[in-house]
Amino acid sequence: DPGGVLPQEDEYESIVSSLPSNPKLQLLCYQGKWLLESWVPGIIAIQRPGGGFAPRHGDVVLASLPKCGTTWLKALAFATMARRAHPPPPAAGDDDERRQRHHPLLRLNPHDCVPSMEKLFAAGLGSKMDALPSPRLMATHVHHSLLPASITDNPHCKIIYICRDPKDMIVSLWHFVRRRLPEIPFLELFESACEGRCLSSPIWDHILGYWNASKTSPETTVLFLRYEELLHDPADGVRKLARFVGQPFSPEEEEAGVVEDIVRLCSFEQMKNLEVNKAAGLSPVLQQNAYTNGSFFRKGGTGDWANHMTPEMAERLDAIVEEKLRGSGLSF
Ligand code: A3P
Repeated sequence: DPGGVLPQEDEYESIVSSLPSNPKLQLLCYQGKWLLESWVPGIIAIQRPGGGFAPRHGDVVLASLPKCGTTWLKALAFATMARRAHPPPPAAGDDDERRQRHHPLLRLNPHDCVPSMEKLFAAGLGSKMDALPSPRLMATHVHHSLLPASITDNPHCKIIYICRDPKDMIVSLWHFVRRRLPEIPFLELFESACEGRCLSSPIWDHILGYWNASKTSPETTVLFLRYEELLHDPADGVRKLARFVGQPFSPEEEEAGVVEDIVRLCSFEQMKNLEVNKAAGLSPVLQQNAYTNGSFFRKGGTGDWANHMTPEMAERLDAIVEEKLRGSGLSF
């Protein structure tokens, strides 16, 4: 354990052996949340006071449920925050090709530009976080209530959350899970989501945790974004993001079209068609999951749920989510 923070083997065994599990979906129920079992040691390490995660002034954490636009948010946040060192390339034909290809997002999958905390810590590589330049950019799928206070109660740490219509999230998740479990029926995943027992469930707890935190201090610590709104007006989302991390676009940058350059660089069509993100590409970080880089780019739209759910199924899930979110001011 080079990071020095992973629970010892026997200690970990004693924690996980008592947890409810779903072996087929490789999930454990840890502190009331259904999590990918491979993340749990990383989460325990991050939670460990004084052990796992060493906060730093200006840290930015991207938080999301899986399949809600994590890859896109990673790309947008990275392109925005690193724009001085790595200017986003202008529209094709405007500049020389060599400079265009130089941008990290044209050579790397977004997951290799922004580390996922629990995966890094679970691999015993938590100390790699110390090597990141400030302000650090990192990501998590963990529920707000499971994050350490050094993140959630830290006025110098910012969280950007992205959510998505749970119906589209479940469809996207099913397509993703099928890469490992080709035979899994959609209905099985749908049922487990309705019961609050699919990946990162209960999904309403995940969304509400960050939503409530964003209402407490929206301008400073939690920015709450929606996938559908980002699709509708990505430039507006990028401007919000830049302001939130304290790097608003200058009039000169606006004039030069930097916002549009970032939007184009991170667009679904652009990213999906890059060589590095073609189906065969395998990111070093993701290798252990056997999910290829290409598996993070499928349709990139809204409303695919209608191709997989009957109107009754959609109504049932909508009603559950509505009931759970009632009184929060949030709806889908
Ligand atoms: P679909 O499966 O509905 O197409 P995550 O990154 O959290 O795993 O989410 C994956 C979802 O985001 C997939 O949705 C994927 O196609 C979509 N996605 C990935 N990159 C995107 C981009 N640049 N713009 C819009 N959507 C994107």
